[in-house]
Amino acid sequence: MEQQSRETFGSQVGFVFAAAGSAIGLGNIWRFPYLAGMYGGAAFLFVYLAIVVVVGVVCFIGEVSFGRHTRQSNVGAFKSINKAWAPAGLIGILAGFMILSFYSVVGGWTIRYFFQAFSGFFADPVASGDFFGAFISDPLMPIIYHALFMGATIWIVYNGIQDGIEKYSNIMMPALFVLILILVVRSLTLPGGQEGLAFYLKPDFSKITGETLLAALGQVFFTLSLGMGSILTYGSYLGKDENIPNVSTIVPFMDTLIAFMAGLIIFPAVFAYGFEPGQGGGLAFVTLPAVFSAMPAGNLFGAAFFFLLFLAALTSAISLLEPVAAYMMEEHGWTRNKAVLIMGSIIFLVGVVASLSNGAWSHISFFGDNFFDFLDNTSGNILLPVSGLVTSIFIAWVWGSEHALKEATNDGTITFAWGKLWANVLIKYVAPILITLVFLSSIGIIPVGI
Ligand code: PHE
Repeated sequence: MEQQSRETFGSQVGFVFAAAGSAIGLGNIWRFPYLAGMYGGAAFLFVYLAIVVVVGVVCFIGEVSFGRHTRQSNVGAFKSINKAWAPAGLIGILAGFMILSFYSVVGGWTIRYFFQAFSGFFADPVASGDFFGAFISDPLMPIIYHALFMGATIWIVYNGIQDGIEKYSNIMMPALFVLILILVVRSLTLPGGQEGLAFYLKPDFSKITGETLLAALGQVFFTLSLGMGSILTYGSYLGKDENIPNVSTIVPFMDTLIAFMAGLIIFPAVFAYGFEPGQGGGLAFVTLPAVFSAMPAGNLFGAAFFFLLFLAALTSAISLLEPVAAYMMEEHGWTRNKAVLIMGSIIFLVGVVASLSNGAWSHISFFGDNFFDFLDNTSGNILLPVSGLVTSIFIAWVWGSEHALKEATNDGTITFAWGKLWANVLIKYVAPILITLVFLSSIGIIPVGI
């Protein structure tokens, strides 16, 4: 009786912690609200929620089952079922590489804001916006903070201590949750906040365009860490007795709740203070300080918030670097140290260019965007959904959804109420067709409009 030698999580709780640590991060607090602000508020929120359920959870179950079955990380997992499909895993590796390079820059911003809390935030929207603009366009400061953030990520993955950090940081996550709850209450009671609430919760579906759909789809993959091997890799460490359908709904639920609450903080404040909801990637960083300055001991809350956000971002960054390093180790025979140091350093350098593109190099355009936005848009809106599409097709049609269902239900020993629907309809047709339709609509082939 040869037992699998791969280490497994001690318990279901261990997996939920690690997967939630990967999922919950800047995607929830920074990326989700700024996209919602750009794409029509409530219309975006509703599209996003629908996609979380019909594509997000469906693909999550698929990736976890695929990972646990093959006990491999991204490229190896495809290979172990069908050698010809190895390149499919590479799309995800490339996505992880690109995401981490700008993610780490934003991770650096959280460190800067943590320190700023000690000298105080700006209550005035113009001052808050100017502060943010001056900081991110500075040629040096954001790069120093990016170096700190990336250095911490590399150090943790290099020493192989991510488990410890994940546990530690997940003990802090309830604290982040409580803080977010307090901020929701503060923001909802701001005079003038109701208009923001209406913007966020009262949908005007005529605002939905193909681009809205694509941004929401990309955000679902981004926020759930799908499409680049993070969740798949965690799945490969999940014990054979654990309940995949359960854990695959708990994690997306928690993740969605945090993103939803982030919107409840940001949008009332946006309207109460006269910020521009569609301003893009600076939204959370200019708005949150206004909320802090409107509360007693706001600096203390601010410091605690940015510290916890930094930790949440760090556990996500670890899960971005790990599959990239694992790929170099497994497919190119690199040692762990070499893989982490070299790939981490290249990612850092790409991030330096991304950071400079917010200032000194902002005039250099990549398909109409600066380099930072190009990385953000291409990895989120194209690479992750493409990789998700390929993965769902692979799981349903190459591996076979009946095999996937067998894995997801521990050989039929646990109940998965909608298991048949998942295997025969959702992962086989609904997820791949929806992803394809969203792509077609975003390039204008299928018109959207009600
Ligand atoms: N899900 C993380 C977040 O929302 C980012 C991430 C994307 C992590 C892809 C791993 C893989 O912040």
